[in-house]
Amino acid sequence: MKHLQVDLKNALSFVNQDDFNKYESFAKEQNEKITNKTGKGNDFLGWVDLPNNISQKHLDDINDTAKALKEKSEFIVVIGIGGSYLGAKAVIEALSGQFEYLRSNKENPHILFAGQNLSEDYHFELLEFLRDKKYSVIVISKSGTTTEPAIAFRLFRKDLENRFGKEEASKRIVAITDASKGALRNLTDQENYKSFIIDDDIGGRYSVLTPVGLLPIACAGFNIIEMVNGAKEMMHIAETNFDGNPVFQYASIRHLFYTKNKIIEILANYDQRLNFMAEWWKQLYGESEGKENKGIFPASVSFTTDLHSLGQYVQEGLRNIFETVISVEKTRFNLNIPDDKDNFDKLNYLAGKPIDFVNKMAELGTTIAHVDGDVPNIKIILPEISEFYIGELIYFFEKACAISGYLLDVNPFDQPGVEAYKKNMFALLEKPGFEEETKKIKKRIE
Ligand code: PA5
Repeated sequence: MKHLQVDLKNALSFVNQDDFNKYESFAKEQNEKITNKTGKGNDFLGWVDLPNNISQKHLDDINDTAKALKEKSEFIVVIGIGGSYLGAKAVIEALSGQFEYLRSNKENPHILFAGQNLSEDYHFELLEFLRDKKYSVIVISKSGTTTEPAIAFRLFRKDLENRFGKEEASKRIVAITDASKGALRNLTDQENYKSFIIDDDIGGRYSVLTPVGLLPIACAGFNIIEMVNGAKEMMHIAETNFDGNPVFQYASIRHLFYTKNKIIEILANYDQRLNFMAEWWKQLYGESEGKENKGIFPASVSFTTDLHSLGQYVQEGLRNIFETVISVEKTRFNLNIPDDKDNFDKLNYLAGKPIDFVNKMAELGTTIAHVDGDVPNIKIILPEISEFYIGELIYFFEKACAISGYLLDVNPFDQPGVEAYKKNMFALLEKPGFEEETKKIKKRIE
């Protein structure tokens, strides 16, 4: 069976092989800190063995809950932000038929998201759209106190209660939160919502293989058991395969580039279904590495679309970037370029060829051009976009991210910088308990 692989052919030509070998052994050392739980943030390592620890009973509970919600709903609104949103959104977008949402006779409810921003218009329009629709809500907040999802949940809870009555509304709501702490936990216990717990030792951005990701993904009709199997497989590969270990290869080469002032990593895909995987990846790496004035800035592009926009910069802009391409080997469908006897568009040289053949040549041509333009290229080869391989990809990125954080000597599991905007926002909103901050900030903006 094929597995995710890393191809460093167009990356190693930019570095000295001995340096790479050195960094690969550093990566192995950092991995031991994860295994032995001796590194920074070691109380947040619950995700490491998670694929092996998920019981069939737990997966059945998630699938049964999804089934009950699906029976009641044409739409399911998933409320959450950051790590409580991006994983589910990324996986659902990667696995879904791209025009499925336009079908009227859908087999599974369409998954919509709320509380991932503070846009009044977004939430107004969503409530308006759902006015005559049957829908349910999955509210996700580990802390149970995050402002964006809390506001959205108040709106949608009230809407459900007004439309269906309190008792039926409570059957249309599933909460995913802490076992004992936070406002969402209190409300959940009080209203008797079905709930799932996010373990203390799993941070938001590492939580996609918990009910945080798995319940919305199951509601969208995807096979979460296969996804967990893929993650399990990558967990095994990452632990046992020391020669050509894709996790160590990726973590070490990107860190080596960073030491050579290549401080921006651009994650590229040639299949736009992976666009939101890139958003999830940006959060994972940005929030894990960007601290103490250190870290690679994670950016993303979708090719060939963006070759006609950001492609110019990648080719000829500042040379502080490297590129990581998620290259998907096999398409889901086959569509060949038709023959045309008039050949007005001069495309007959491609007649009979699959569109993906052109896409692959665009990818190869772009890689060569970027390498010539001094942009190193790391290639992550994914056999296909399926539940299993998305599971492999998720675990691969999580493990490599933790190792990368340790290579930088930061705690990859905290996010102290996220509090700065919250503190100012609460001061400006005059939240009770922020009286001193309110006085100070008002002076600054007078
Ligand atoms: O990765 C993280 O920990 C964060 O992005 C959180 O997921 C995000 O801030 C949402 O937090 P919560 O789930 O507590 O509402």
